[in-house]
Amino acid sequence: MAGALILGGCRDDDDQTPDGNSCEDNLCEVIPGSGTAVDLEVPYFFAEPNLPQNNPLTEEGIALGRHLFWEKALSRNNAVSCGTCHFPEASFSDSSPFSTGLYGDQTSRNSMALVNMGWSNSFFWDGRASTLENQLFEPVRNPIEMDMTWPEASERIGNDSTYQEMFTAAFGTPCVDSIRITNAMAQFIRTMISHRSKFDRAYRYGEVQLSPSEQRGLDLFLAEGGDPEIYPGGQNGGDCFHCHGGGLIEFTDHQFHNNGLDSVFTDLGRADVTGFALDEGLFKTPTLRNIEFSAPYMHDGRFETLHEVVEHYNSGGHNSATLDPLMKFPDEGLGLSPQDVDDIVNFLKTLSDTEFIENPDFHDPH
Ligand code: HEC
Ligand code: HEC
Repeated sequence: MAGALILGGCRDDDDQTPDGNSCEDNLCEVIPGSGTAVDLEVPYFFAEPNLPQNNPLTEEGIALGRHLFWEKALSRNNAVSCGTCHFPEASFSDSSPFSTGLYGDQTSRNSMALVNMGWSNSFFWDGRASTLENQLFEPVRNPIEMDMTWPEASERIGNDSTYQEMFTAAFGTPCVDSIRITNAMAQFIRTMISHRSKFDRAYRYGEVQLSPSEQRGLDLFLAEGGDPEIYPGGQNGGDCFHCHGGGLIEFTDHQFHNNGLDSVFTDLGRADVTGFALDEGLFKTPTLRNIEFSAPYMHDGRFETLHEVVEHYNSGGHNSATLDPLMKFPDEGLGLSPQDVDDIVNFLKTLSDTEFIENPDFHDPH
């Protein structure tokens, strides 16, 4: 991509948007080699992240992305920034079931935690964006969230002298367009890596030990559900690892599933994107890292506590035509005891990484 001109700040599948404004964005030249290259520090037990070649990480790009992430001028009435709905204490999600946008209206889904996004390959609950850069085109234009057009956003940012310097440092010229804005934000978000939870410190860094209850919760998390006397292969476990295993690194399989929240769907989830009946009620499996911080839970924030979540799975969930085959016991449930449920919750809390949410590098620089 080096030296290539990317037309009009438009990106592949993002060209046709309801507002029709995205392609009127101004056009900045791509100047290869701008900024100071950064080698992302990847924890030793993680796979290589998805780093697009046409958006290399630079010190200046990351710093700019952080400023833009916390920039309220990206919303029409200067009321909200990305950080309004993705704040550190909630693992960069929101603590309300639905988030309040710039005019006080509510989003239709629960805000998502921004953790280890560099390893994700689809974005939003329904996976409608396939890259982080593409994902970032949406919130600024979303009429409930920030309600701007890209040309307006670029002009506003471009008129600010501090940003002129920051864009020059990151991209070689003070020119601002949607590609540069979303590239910088994506660079920043890719640095938000959580790898020092108690679980990691026990299992990867050998610094601490899990308590007996936490260890038992992990064992249940990794065990097959079902009574072995009735179901071949059953281990009386929680059956969580099928979807949230991710090698005990990512705690998601990056797939879409119907985990039995409803029998009748008010939100079609993945089917909104694919149009397939078989995708109705399927949603992206969220990571469980920092799950203690990102309450309430599920795409509609329906559960307030981790106990409620685990009890949902324990009940077997609601049956429907698209219920995931890995939700094996919709009728009889998992049969976990209250102690089992407590232990699983205690294990889930070992995935909390306070160093991550307290990391000043991710906080509001304004
Ligand atoms: C008014 C609240 C609000 C604002 C402002 C907002 N978001 Fe979000 N964000 C959400 C909601 C809600 C979702 C889930 C929407 C969906 O799935 O349909 C989401 C999803 C995301 C995701 C997808 C995460 C994943 O795991 O797939 C990313 C990344 C993200 N937002 C980043 C941003 C950035 C960067 C900004 C600023 C440009 C921003 N958001 C502004 C509420 C908000
Ligand atoms: C069939 C796959 C599957 C299985 C099995 C499964 N989950 Fe999930 N989990 C999901 C999906 C998909 C979601 C998001 C569903 C939604 O919001 O519609 C989810 C959501 C969650 C959430 C809320 C995450 C958030 O950010 O809101 C938690 C916590 C959770 N699961 C824990 C568990 C535990 C603990 C187990 C085992 C007892 C388990 N899951 C078993 C697929 C699964």
